[in-house]
Amino acid sequence: MNQANDRNETKSMKALTYRGPGKRAWEDRPKPKIQAPTDAIVRVTTTTICGTDLHILKGDLPAVESGRILGHEGVGVIEDVGSEVTAFKRGDRVIISCVTSCGRCKFCRKSMYSHCLTGGWILGYQIDGTQAEYVRIPHADTSLYALTPGLNEEVGTMISDILPTGHECGVLNGQVKPGDVVAIVGAGPVGLAALLTAKLYSPAELIMIDVDDHRLEVARSFGATNVVNSSDGKGVERIMALTKQAGVDVAIEAVGVPATFDICQSIIAPGGRIANVGVHGKSVELHLERLWSYNITITTRLVDTVSTPMLLGVVQAGRLDAKKLVSHRFALSDIMKAYDTFGNAAKEQALKVLLTSNRPTGG
Ligand SMILES: NC(=O)c1ccc[n+]([C@@H]2O[C@H](COP(=O)([O-])OP(=O)(O)OC[C@H]3O[C@@H](n4cnc5c(N)ncnc54)[C@H](O)[C@@H]3O)[C@@H](O)[C@H]2O)c1
Ligand SMILES: [Zn+2]
Ligand SMILES: [Zn+2]
Repeated sequence: MNQANDRNETKSMKALTYRGPGKRAWEDRPKPKIQAPTDAIVRVTTTTICGTDLHILKGDLPAVESGRILGHEGVGVIEDVGSEVTAFKRGDRVIISCVTSCGRCKFCRKSMYSHCLTGGWILGYQIDGTQAEYVRIPHADTSLYALTPGLNEEVGTMISDILPTGHECGVLNGQVKPGDVVAIVGAGPVGLAALLTAKLYSPAELIMIDVDDHRLEVARSFGATNVVNSSDGKGVERIMALTKQAGVDVAIEAVGVPATFDICQSIIAPGGRIANVGVHGKSVELHLERLWSYNITITTRLVDTVSTPMLLGVVQAGRLDAKKLVSHRFALSDIMKAYDTFGNAAKEQALKVLLTSNRPTGG
């Protein structure tokens, strides 16, 4: 703790950085400073690791520079605000949205915050992120949410990214309706978030597909009506059998590899919707020779976090238990170990892996 206080005074902090494909480091970095009057500096109290961070480490997102602090999720306490920040003040507890938005540009005015001209998904990608003791949040007024007293930090962290991502890119884009047959390929935290938020719309069936039996078991306990392990290459056959060869109304892709997009293309029913959520590093083959006549819709989306206020209301009302997405808890200083755990999710039976700062609260 003393060391941490010393670092505070010396304006240095610890952070997890990307050091090129397959390489990451836990190192000393300068503490961020206010750069624009709309910035806030947040002391991170809880953060987590996303499947997207694993894609970055795999080299799937080559735009990420070596030395970048990773992470785009978390909860913290406002340490400092720029002169134009009016919604938050020092000491406020906040949820950090994975998407930064100015609220004014042409994309923000269309509620497409993910493409904000001076924001979007930049945290832990184009600017330093949340897997650190402190983070600078641009456009703080419109990119942070108050962590209201009824919400705990763990739930708040699930609101940063995975709940809006599963909901917007999967459920809303897939237009899940009462009575639909929905398949979700990928039972990682994002696929499970799609499952939990799909239930808000009363689908008739929710079929979960993965290669990890533990995650499938979790999916069943979260309300999946059927689970399919596709590791033997027979996933499509099984889903078609489950649907009496009709296929599914909605196929949500929540992995980000060609094989799983292929499953979606093979199981979609006429009139269906394929909602891609996964971050892809390789091109996929689009089977228009079969699908041209299927009247289907294929959507892609970078999460806009436009449904964050709604999701806050849902979790606050106890209609969705986001805490059950958390499987492991580590101190922030053990983040290298936490990456090993999340990166070996099947072996470690990991879902969302939380990191909490060991700094004293309120300091
Ligand atoms: N579009 C967006 O805005 C957005 C936002 C956040 C995350 N994402 C993406 O969503 C995806 C899921 O994220 P996550 O955190 O849940 O990741 P994750 O890595 O924890 O989960 C991926 C799951 O896919 C399963 N899987 C891998 N290969 C498979 C295969 N061939 N067949 C079936 N299942 C397979 C794994 O077992 C795992 O359970 C990632 O691609 C991530 O980058 C997208
Ligand atoms: Zn993410
Ligand atoms: Zn904007």
